[in-house]
Amino acid sequence: MRVLVVGSGGREHALAWACARHESRPEIICAPGNGGTAQLGTNVTISSTDAPAVARLAREREVDLVIIGPDAALAAGVSDTCREAGLTVFGPSSAAAKIEWSKTHAKQVMDRAGVPTARWRSGNGESRSDLFDFVLELDGHCVVKADGLAAGKGVAVCDTREEAFAALAGCLHERRFGDAGSVAVVEERLHGTEVSVFAVCDGRRYQLLWPARDYKRAHDSDHGPNTGGMGAYAPATDGCPPLGEVAKRVIEPTLAALAEAGTPFVGCLYVGLMVSRDGFRVLEFNARFGDPETQVVVPLAGAGFLDLLLAAARGELAGTAPAPVVAGAAVVVVAAALGYPGAPRTDDPITGLDDLDDDVLCFHAGTARDGRGRLVTAGGRVLGIVGRGADVATARRRAYENLERVHFAGMWSRSDIATHPAGAWR
Ligand code: AMP
Ligand code: GLY
Repeated sequence: MRVLVVGSGGREHALAWACARHESRPEIICAPGNGGTAQLGTNVTISSTDAPAVARLAREREVDLVIIGPDAALAAGVSDTCREAGLTVFGPSSAAAKIEWSKTHAKQVMDRAGVPTARWRSGNGESRSDLFDFVLELDGHCVVKADGLAAGKGVAVCDTREEAFAALAGCLHERRFGDAGSVAVVEERLHGTEVSVFAVCDGRRYQLLWPARDYKRAHDSDHGPNTGGMGAYAPATDGCPPLGEVAKRVIEPTLAALAEAGTPFVGCLYVGLMVSRDGFRVLEFNARFGDPETQVVVPLAGAGFLDLLLAAARGELAGTAPAPVVAGAAVVVVAAALGYPGAPRTDDPITGLDDLDDDVLCFHAGTARDGRGRLVTAGGRVLGIVGRGADVATARRRAYENLERVHFAGMWSRSDIATHPAGAWR
């Protein structure tokens, strides 16, 4: 068996690792991969959004399964091109992935499917007065979002009218997010704790993985700018609604609505929830595995994970029973480079990885080999150190103990991952 993983982050390293431990010992190819995936198989230097090149590589290497990691690759239609080339693909078509790459579309699907979500309005520069009226109606207590993909930076959580107006102007007039912000969504601001639920879907059926919680703010106690995620833990069953309820009220109606629209969803449906005393509502859908959430979800998914993805890609998921999971918990702490989430410092040698305990995982996100063969930093989120244990507290301790053995110039991390639910500090 041969598997091609598309992408180059910690998520892709974790997916490649999970596939590699399958009993059939598959050959792993990553495009373009990173310093970590190079240790599991072969990296091929092509862009993850270059659909024809990805399909060509998969055909030439007679790959049995293509797994597509990044949102941008899905939006660019890499799945579509690979399917047209007769390949078996885990990852939705660009049309199905629109629930991630257009927040307006996601809201329309949710309304059509009766999925609980915050009240919203969407508009462009011309219909902005509608959006301004809605800000006034909510008295500034709202969230302003760029409609398109903005690398997790297109969301402004506002307390006042002035903040919301400024966010709208930044999006629609200053074009702070480029074309991704030519349309903006204003929605009611929700309160509570956040949790993410993952469903592996085959177009009609699904299997749930453990819920996870990630930490998007850069600094402790949820301070600082938003990042792609500075850490995560699973299972995040504390404060998570019963999974059966999330399945019935969110996943099943969404899959049915997408199938009915002629855009069946094959891939990982990532449901971001805000949970309060009154119940839960959907904050967002992603059309892919989360990063860094995958780094804690996949180690708990068992050695049959590749079978699950293959069955989903073939449209052959057996039912809607929970996926096989292993006992225990996992915590990932991200080691970031100086400058992240802005322009990160790169090319610093990384040391200490040989000193990690055997049961601790280290997923690479932004690493590369330099001309002398040394492992060096090559991105903002450099590594994810994953501790495992019988419970979250043990897993956290193991992650932090091992993180202390790792070093590169300018390395920093959050010290409070998995101590409180994200949002608990607000
Ligand atoms: P999104 O990319 O839509 O998930 O938004 C990014 C982050 O913004 C979420 O993880 C939440 O922390 C916050 N957020 C998004 N929508 C809302 C909302 N309606 N109310 C409160 N916070 C929100
Ligand atoms: N960690 C958030 C995401 O993958 O979207």
